Amino acid sequence: MRPGSDPVSGAAGGGPAERWFGDCFGGRPGQVWRAPGRANLIGEHTDYNQGWVLPFALGLGVTVAAGRRGDGVLALRSRQAPGAPADARLASLAPGAVTGWAAYPAGVAWALRQAGHPLAGGASLAVESDLPQGAGLSSSAALECAAALALDGLYGLGLPRPELATLAQRAENDFVGVPSGIMDQSASLLSRAGHALLLDCRTGVTADVPLDPAAARLALLIVDTGARHALGDGRYAQRRRECEQAAALLGVGSLRDVTSPAEAGRLADPVLRRRARHVVTENGRVTQAAALLTGGDLAGVGALLYASHASLRDDFEVSWPEADAAVDAAMASGALGARMMGGGFGGSALALVPAGQRAVSDAITAEFARRGWPPPAFFPAVPSAGAFRLRPGDGDGTGGGDGDSTGKADHGCT
Ligand code: GLA
Repeated sequence: MRPGSDPVSGAAGGGPAERWFGDCFGGRPGQVWRAPGRANLIGEHTDYNQGWVLPFALGLGVTVAAGRRGDGVLALRSRQAPGAPADARLASLAPGAVTGWAAYPAGVAWALRQAGHPLAGGASLAVESDLPQGAGLSSSAALECAAALALDGLYGLGLPRPELATLAQRAENDFVGVPSGIMDQSASLLSRAGHALLLDCRTGVTADVPLDPAAARLALLIVDTGARHALGDGRYAQRRRECEQAAALLGVGSLRDVTSPAEAGRLADPVLRRRARHVVTENGRVTQAAALLTGGDLAGVGALLYASHASLRDDFEVSWPEADAAVDAAMASGALGARMMGGGFGGSALALVPAGQRAVSDAITAEFARRGWPPPAFFPAVPSAGAFRLRPGDGDGTGGGDGDSTGKADHGCT
């Protein structure tokens, strides 16, 4: 399924999200969209340095069922947070006006309005997710992207997906207040099944790179270490500032323009030198990984994954004890490569392992037990399609009405 064409999925009905919409607002939604979470094969902390990333979409994701209103209100309900509904007047949306989970979809509506799309009548959004939160799998970007597509569909805006990705990032940066890059939203909106998305974060140019672990008799294993992260806790923002400082001292606009580790070595400050070295070497590893995948050598990527982990641990200093232990146990038990994934300080690791055997997951579980940590959770990471539309389950094969929910009784879903 190609992104951009907004294909109506062959899946029957909008599923739990559509039912949840009915419970909350009555009637049927006009738009039901599913946006996946992401894993990142390689290219960590390179996106906001205008470098390259190589993420892919997961099968797990967030579904938003949406209907148009006429009263100018944005009504938000999540099946995962039934006690925290949010209703906001669109005209009063401003950073800080909505908090918690609802800030993400509210931020998307705010960003759309800032971009000249008033969404005047308002909208009712019912959210359903099967992505673990805080696991570093971009549940917030998936929520933003599903909301963006639903609002775009309800109001017939027809915005291109790269623009929706930018608006979703704006929502996160300027409304929610988390200074993340463009990787997660791009992966959720632009990925293609069976491929990773090579994204040049400066130009926005993308390429689909074949990523089919099963064909190579390998598997990509996500290890949710159970340690929870919050990008809003300041350490992510601190890394961004350090990178900006390093670029300024080297006389370039961004670390993307530093092309050799020797150039990064000119920095006198040892911390800034390490940060810059990570970004420069990581950009090189993304390019090498994309070339290996294009040549059909997924196994060859393993060494790059481990080198990425070492760089994130030693130079960028964003790994955490559970990730280091998971990676070491994976490498000692037959993984071809493994690394921490995402912003750091908690969340998941990714391991490239031989298909159909449990040696690596058993070894990681045993190591966690030995250290007295709760057992980690494992998910297979199957490179999946980017966001797509689900057909509302109206049975008539048309779907896609406005699903006007104004004035419907609130059925007390909270
Ligand atoms: C988080 C951010 C991304 C990216 C990664 C690190 O996932 O949301 O934009 O910066 O961290 O690669």
